[in-house]
Parts: sequence; C-alpha cells; structure tokens
Amino acid sequence: MWRPSLPVSLRAALGAAPLSSAGTPRALEGKVALVTAGTDGIGVGVAEALGVAGARVFISSRRAQNVQRAVEQLRGRGLQVSGVPCHVGRAEERERMVQAALDTFGAIDILVSNAAVNPHFGPALEADESTWDKVFQVNVTAAAMLVRLVVPHMEKRGGGAIILMSSIAGYQPMTGLAPYSVSKAALLALVAALSPELLPRGIRVNGVAPGLIRTRFSAALWQDEAVRERALKELGVERLGTPQEVAQAVLFLASPQAAYVAGQTLLVAGGARPRL
Ligand SMILES: NC(=O)c1ccc[n+]([C@@H]2O[C@H](COP(=O)([O-])OP(=O)(O)OC[C@H]3O[C@@H](n4cnc5c(N)ncnc54)[C@H](OP(=O)(O)O)[C@@H]3O)[C@@H](O)[C@H]2O)c1
Repeated sequence: MWRPSLPVSLRAALGAAPLSSAGTPRALEGKVALVTAGTDGIGVGVAEALGVAGARVFISSRRAQNVQRAVEQLRGRGLQVSGVPCHVGRAEERERMVQAALDTFGAIDILVSNAAVNPHFGPALEADESTWDKVFQVNVTAAAMLVRLVVPHMEKRGGGAIILMSSIAGYQPMTGLAPYSVSKAALLALVAALSPELLPRGIRVNGVAPGLIRTRFSAALWQDEAVRERALKELGVERLGTPQEVAQAVLFLASPQAAYVAGQTLLVAGGARPRL
C-alpha cells in the first residue's frame, strides 16, 4: 500500500490521536500550558478549560493582584495553576514569565498567546503613530516573540501546540477599530507564516478568532443596547458569545483531537462569516 513519506517530526506533529483519547475529558494530562492575559475574560476561561482537561497551567497578566486572584480562583476549582505578572509588550517580562513557567512546571507544551490592547476607538485617520506602534507591539510583535521563546522548549518535549488569539475583526475590520482590526488580521497571517516552519519541528500553530464575547474588553460594544444591536448586525451574529465557548475551541486546537489541524484560524463567532 502506498504511504506518503513524512519526516519523523512531521509524523509527531500530525500523529493520529490515540483512539482511546477521543473525547476523553483529560486529553491534556501531563501537559503544561502557558496562557497570557490568563486572568480575566477569555484567558481565564481558557486556563480553566485546559486545566480541567488535565494540563498544568501557567497564567499571566500585567497586574500582580489579578494574577493572584485568578490563580486562587482556579486552584479553588482543584486545578494545578500558577502564574506571574507579565506585560507581554516588554521583552524582559516575557523572558521572566517563560523562565518562571519552566521553573514551576518543568516544561511548556502549549502556548496560548491571548493578550491584546485596543487603545483607539474612532476614525482610522485619527490614530497616531504611537497608537499603531503600541497596538502592533502588544498584539502582534509580542506574540511572535513569545513563539520564539517557547519553541526550543517545545522541541525538547518532541512537539507542542501554539494558539494565537485573533478576532472576527481580523476578517472584517470593525468600524472605529482600525489599528486593532489590522493587528488581528496580522495574526491570521502570522499563523499561516509560522505553521509551515514549525510543523516539521513537531509544533502545530493555529489561531482562534472570536466574535463578540461578553468580557470587560468588549464592554463598550455590548453594554449599551443600541450599540450592541449595531455591533451584532455589523458582525452578522445573533448573540454575544461567552469566554467558555471560545475556550472550548482553544482546548480542541491544543489537544491531540486536533492532531491533523495546523495553520488554521478557527472563527468562533456565532455564524459570522469572513468578509476580507
Ligand atoms: N471580548 C471580545 O469580544 C473579543 C473578541 C475577539 C477577540 N478577543 C480577543 O480575546 C483576547 C482576550 O480578550 P478578553 O475579551 O478576554 O479581555 P478581558 O476580559 O478584558 O481580559 C483582558 C486580559 O488581558 C490582560 N492584559 C491586558 N493587557 C495586557 C498586556 N499588555 N500584557 C498582558 N496581559 C494583558 C488583562 O489583565 P491585566 O489588566 O492584569 O493586564 C486581562 O487578563 C484579546 O486578544 C482580544 O483581542 C476578544
């Protein structure tokens, strides 16, 4: 019978999920996950879902008290969680975070790059250069630099999974959110650019693009009823999503169930369709 000949590491990255693991609730037993912006909203939902699936989870965000609160909250659910503060836009803090995750749990198998900022709401032409720089530094460059930091450690483990948090705004730029939307489109391209480089090294890179999710980050788009209706109509979705609904997509992409999925960004957006 003809079989395609694949490099060994590619077999590892695309290796068929063991039948026994299909649908098991502990699909990430023995794995270590690093989740940025893991203290609130989607990030804490992701940390919880990965932890419930058996992973040890290392979380971070800028504020120490947020990290402490989220760690306690997740440990209270019986999950193995630790964390440190880290502003992902600062190189030395990213390095400290990765080292702290290694010191705490001994490995990194999964990276969920989830942190983002949106300091500008208004016409694109009113966003100045420092705004564009800040958005790209935190939303795009930091994600690429984090990938560089974790890849050698994933290779030591024989492979890994990386998930970059994009947005529906990356597929259909949202009114008033030009720098943010463009940065999220860049993450779609970053997934596509990294995947062919990292798949032969045993690492699957994918993205998740949430629609409008009920979190503090997006409150300006859903708290006021008229604004909310306009945003939902613009996106083409019926309702707001939940952090848990996004977390389940991340869990799938991080797990062996997604062994044959690489270089994709999954829209988790209540039926919204890409328009770019
Ligand atoms: N909510 C939505 O509708 C929606 C839709 C599409 C995509 N997304 C994406 O989902 C991700 C999470 O958003 P969310 O809605 O869950 O936000 P959220 O609930 O407001 O949480 C934001 C998190 O980011 C942390 N954070 C902010 N700036 C950071 C930085 N520079 N470095 C590290 N951590 C930072 C915050 O903690 P500290 O304050 O302690 O730093 C907090 O944990 C973002 O990438 C966002 O673009 C959200």
